[in-house]
Amino acid sequence: MRAWLLFGAVSAAGGIALVSADVIEPSNFNVTEELLKLGVDVSSIPALKSFSGTKTRSTAGACAAECGSLKFLFGSQQVNAQNTTLYKNFTNSFWSEQQEQVQPYCVFRPLVNSQVSIVVLLSLFTGCPFAARSGGHAAFSGASSSAGGISIWFKDMNAVTLNVDKSVASIEPGNNWLSVYSALEPYGLAAVGGRAASIGVGGFVLGGGISYHSNLYGWALDNVQSFEVVTATGLIVTASETVLPDLYWALRGGGNNFGLVTKYNVYTIPCPTMRGGSRIFTENYFTEVVNAFINVVNNATMDGKAQQYVAFLQSQGTNIATAELTYTEDVADPVIFQQYRNIPAIADSTSTKTLVEYVKYLEADNPFRYREVYWPIAVQLNEEFSNWVVELFISLIPQVINLKGANPVIIYQGITEPMLQNMTKYGGNALGLDASTGPIHLMHVSFWWDEQSDDDTVYEWVHSFWTQVIAKAQDMGIYNEYIYMNYASMFQDPITGYGEANKDRLRKIANVYDPSGVYQTLQPGYFKLNGPPVTYSL
Ligand SMILES: Cc1cc2nc3c(=O)[nH]c(=O)nc-3n(C[C@H](O)[C@H](O)[C@H](O)COP(=O)(O)OP(=O)(O)OC[C@H]3O[C@@H](n4cnc5c(N)ncnc54)[C@H](O)[C@@H]3O)c2cc1C
Ligand SMILES: *[C@@H]1O[C@H](CO)[C@@H](O)[C@H](O)[C@H]1NC(C)=O
Ligand SMILES: *[C@@H]1O[C@H](CO)[C@@H](O)[C@H](O)[C@H]1NC(C)=O
Ligand SMILES: *[C@@H]1O[C@H](CO)[C@@H](O)[C@H](O)[C@H]1NC(C)=O
Ligand SMILES: *[C@@H]1O[C@H](CO)[C@@H](O)[C@H](O)[C@H]1NC(C)=O
Ligand SMILES: *[C@@H]1O[C@H](CO)[C@@H](O)[C@H](O)[C@H]1NC(C)=O
Repeated sequence: MRAWLLFGAVSAAGGIALVSADVIEPSNFNVTEELLKLGVDVSSIPALKSFSGTKTRSTAGACAAECGSLKFLFGSQQVNAQNTTLYKNFTNSFWSEQQEQVQPYCVFRPLVNSQVSIVVLLSLFTGCPFAARSGGHAAFSGASSSAGGISIWFKDMNAVTLNVDKSVASIEPGNNWLSVYSALEPYGLAAVGGRAASIGVGGFVLGGGISYHSNLYGWALDNVQSFEVVTATGLIVTASETVLPDLYWALRGGGNNFGLVTKYNVYTIPCPTMRGGSRIFTENYFTEVVNAFINVVNNATMDGKAQQYVAFLQSQGTNIATAELTYTEDVADPVIFQQYRNIPAIADSTSTKTLVEYVKYLEADNPFRYREVYWPIAVQLNEEFSNWVVELFISLIPQVINLKGANPVIIYQGITEPMLQNMTKYGGNALGLDASTGPIHLMHVSFWWDEQSDDDTVYEWVHSFWTQVIAKAQDMGIYNEYIYMNYASMFQDPITGYGEANKDRLRKIANVYDPSGVYQTLQPGYFKLNGPPVTYSL
């Protein structure tokens, strides 16, 4: 297979950093011949018989041809047409209603990596657009499902295997973090992964990945040994710190712009029993809560076992703060959380839990099938500013609280110094962050509501809130351009937030591995290299 030729070329040259574009896509690249190498003879496929010319075809015509071809090759269990039970299982199992509403022409469920190559090549051949889904937790429309196109669902590629010394787990993208942790637990192992059960491995790792273990080991993307990835021309390559290191770097933060990842080979970590839960505080203690939050972010350098996030919200008319305080060891009263314990809580669910139990417990806080938006910003950690932002947010809640089903929340997290230091591992990642300016405060609005007719009202409200917050942060000189891709709204541009140099480098790498821009144009959903999915214009 061509994958092996590529490896040969690279190792013969001594592990060079960049392969040239003509190795990935030679000038005589012929998609028909590439498909033949994978055993697919387009001339024998009925759906492609009357298929000619690539210029004037409609998307529906292209996708009818491609879905028909895939069905001919793989059958209706793997290629689900609209209105079938299997198709509805796909659409009905997204986290947000916005993604649930998207109607692809068909859903394709690959079983092995070569079938992923085939679907990419067939899309090149037909021009039918596609999207790929792992856990389906991205919130906005089209992020991981293609309206009228092909939605590739990795669900059935769900193996988790360990290498001989158990230092690396190979995880296929059909897994969520519950299935990964459940597979590794019998070995006393875990991985740096998600904090709620149903979050997918696929999107989580490519955008960042904040874990309970991130103050010890960094984010998920900083704990990847290598990626197996299907490139724009259907090649299956493995990128690591030493082989195709530029592609490896780009995948660590670059999202879905460089290929479809068919295997995440991640370093394993030990999995001791944990202790944690949420403590709920009333509004009169908000300044104490913010103070405790700030100190726990700063104290991450002293005790990496602690992890926290704090949500400020209104619950049945009462403003509250919920601090999720987690310790990756079964310790009753870790010193680092002392300040929180000094604040009287109206409820406290702290208990001893395994990691598997923990992610199941958090799942309950994040129900499926609502209208949803996540929308983050970042600033340098600053206590006075943190208090001001909470006050502003709480003061604006009455403007939207009467929308049906409205649940506006602002969540505080630290991008701590140990997290930032760990971003230098394995050649660094694409996020453009470093530890030199101290801890970063990641703030995000998480809002769910019931009615589609309220979408614009919600988006305008969040936008206007952040506009005020950003203006003040800029005045104070503490605004940070970084936008966390995994939380980003469709109006944001995380790639630009990585800084000019990194954006430029990502584009150059895309020019090598995807010279025709397949992952930019045939896969239009989610955050592309040249701008946000939707320009804000409300
Ligand atoms: C309830 C909830 C809890 C969360 N908790 C956390 C948390 O603890 N920490 C944290 O950091 N983030 C968290 N997030 C954010 C989470 O990281 C993102 O939503 C992430 O995108 C989810 O990944 P997914 O695979 O489920 O999403 P998907 O919607 O399946 O994918 C997101 C994007 O990645 C692409 N993609 C997926 N798989 C692949 C692949 N194999 N190859 C190429 N591209 C791929 C998709 O095409 C899509 O564009 C949470 C989100 C929710 C809704
Ligand atoms: C691509 O290969 C097929 C099969 O070998 C051939 O029929 C076709 O002419 C080739 N196309 C081009 C543009 O060379
Ligand atoms: C699926 O059902 C909808 C609603 O009944 C209908 O409009 C649509 O044409 C159907 N699609 C197919 C492919 O049958
Ligand atoms: C489809 O979804 C239903 C309801 O969630 C579930 O019971 C069923 O097992 C699913 N079928 C398949 C094949 O996934
Ligand atoms: C945490 O920070 C506070 C304030 O800086 C300090 O007084 C305290 O000793 C720290 N606790 C730990 C466990 O490091
Ligand atoms: C990652 O963080 C841990 C915990 O603070 C620290 O011991 C380690 O040195 C960090 N790694 C790097 C490369 O900075």
